Amino acid sequence: MLQQVEIAVIGVGNRARKYLTCLPAGVKVKYLVEPDLVRLGLGSKRYGVPAENCYASADAFFAAPVELDAVIVAAPDRLHVSLATKAVQRGWHVLVEKPVAASEEEYMHLLDAAAASGVQVGVCLEMRFYPFFKRIKEICRFGSLGQILEIEHTEHIGPDRMAHTFVRGLWSRVEETGPIFLSKCCHDADFILWLTGADVLDVKGSGSLSKFRHDPSTPFYCIDCKKRTCPYSAVRLYRDRREWISGFDVPAGLTLGDVIDAELHGGRYGRCVYHCDNDVYDVQDVEATLSGGIKLLMHLEGVSDIEGRTTVIRGTEAVLEADRTHIKVIAIGSGSPDAQPAGTVLLEEDYSSIVALPLHAGADRLLVEDFFDAVANNRTPAASLASALPAHKLCWLAG
Ligand SMILES: NC(=O)c1ccc[n+]([C@@H]2O[C@H](COP(=O)([O-])OP(=O)(O)OC[C@H]3O[C@@H](n4cnc5c(N)ncnc54)[C@H](O)[C@@H]3O)[C@@H](O)[C@H]2O)c1
Repeated sequence: MLQQVEIAVIGVGNRARKYLTCLPAGVKVKYLVEPDLVRLGLGSKRYGVPAENCYASADAFFAAPVELDAVIVAAPDRLHVSLATKAVQRGWHVLVEKPVAASEEEYMHLLDAAAASGVQVGVCLEMRFYPFFKRIKEICRFGSLGQILEIEHTEHIGPDRMAHTFVRGLWSRVEETGPIFLSKCCHDADFILWLTGADVLDVKGSGSLSKFRHDPSTPFYCIDCKKRTCPYSAVRLYRDRREWISGFDVPAGLTLGDVIDAELHGGRYGRCVYHCDNDVYDVQDVEATLSGGIKLLMHLEGVSDIEGRTTVIRGTEAVLEADRTHIKVIAIGSGSPDAQPAGTVLLEEDYSSIVALPLHAGADRLLVEDFFDAVANNRTPAASLASALPAHKLCWLAG
């Protein structure tokens, strides 16, 4: 069992910073790898990593004779496989962000390399650690739904996230980051397959870019627009509300206000949502058949006015409704000997005080703790690379 675990962090952005707030005792950040020099400098100070252990190039890092136990790969999506593969080939355990890969071939390349090196690879699928989603799984396994027949699951992406991440932001172009269903809903697909333990038999998907399309009647930047009630206004989001700004690094000599102003007057995040180069879908429907005869209907709702996930699970005895903060189970009056009359509420639970807590309601911390416990004890992490493959397959097939 390892007493002290030395790690490198590759990609020191939003996600890595979250994971770095919840490293268990005994885990030490020894190296940082980050091409953005402002970010690298800030990271060096914040995490106490000496300049000689900070690399602006992943190639230089992998070419160096560094000694380590594990690596967190939190770089952009398309780099996950190559960075993680190099790390496992050096004999390092890896915690890699989702989505792991853009294709099955790439995924298998990493899986085979990890198996050959005998190291552990965990995937950042933190829904498996959320109290709310863990409870749904528990109810399905031991509760009163009977046999699961159908699951309807919707991922609602609210106006702030949609505009910031998938229209103006870094996940707006298929060519650069892959389809939105893979980047966003691999969490949802993984949740459903983890919940049911079912295999995916077939998948059909269709989507469109219905709302966030070019509109010549609006100015290019929100700062020049008169429509201040627009739900997608960058001025309101970043300057007035000061939200979604954690990725706006403040270089020495500037203030956060200066950085926001620069974005609003010509930056990526100042753009009107009807003048971006986005091409990922904003609406998508996916239908799948799972083993055990389960019908799965998934919906990605990028034009939603709410944020969060809703799930309806229909069983032979009862229906479970999970609406972002509440879980309810209602009898359907199946006629079986112990059945309650149709409409009887069998269970109702309120998670509203928990789901808004930081770090994905504490799930990020549990995921990181599980991974490092797996490393220390040489066991498979709960969200292992092998177990995350079926969800990726579902997303690749959904398109
Ligand atoms: N698990 C989750 O809930 C969750 C949520 C959001 C994002 N993500 C995933 O986490 C990953 C990181 O997302 P983020 O929000 O932190 O993005 P980010 O842009 O804030 O951070 C990514 C960092 O990687 C750096 N980078 C770019 N090229 C690199 C390279 N060649 N080597 C090393 N670093 C490089 C970037 O400069 C940036 O600082 C993405 O794959 C994303 O899909 C996961």
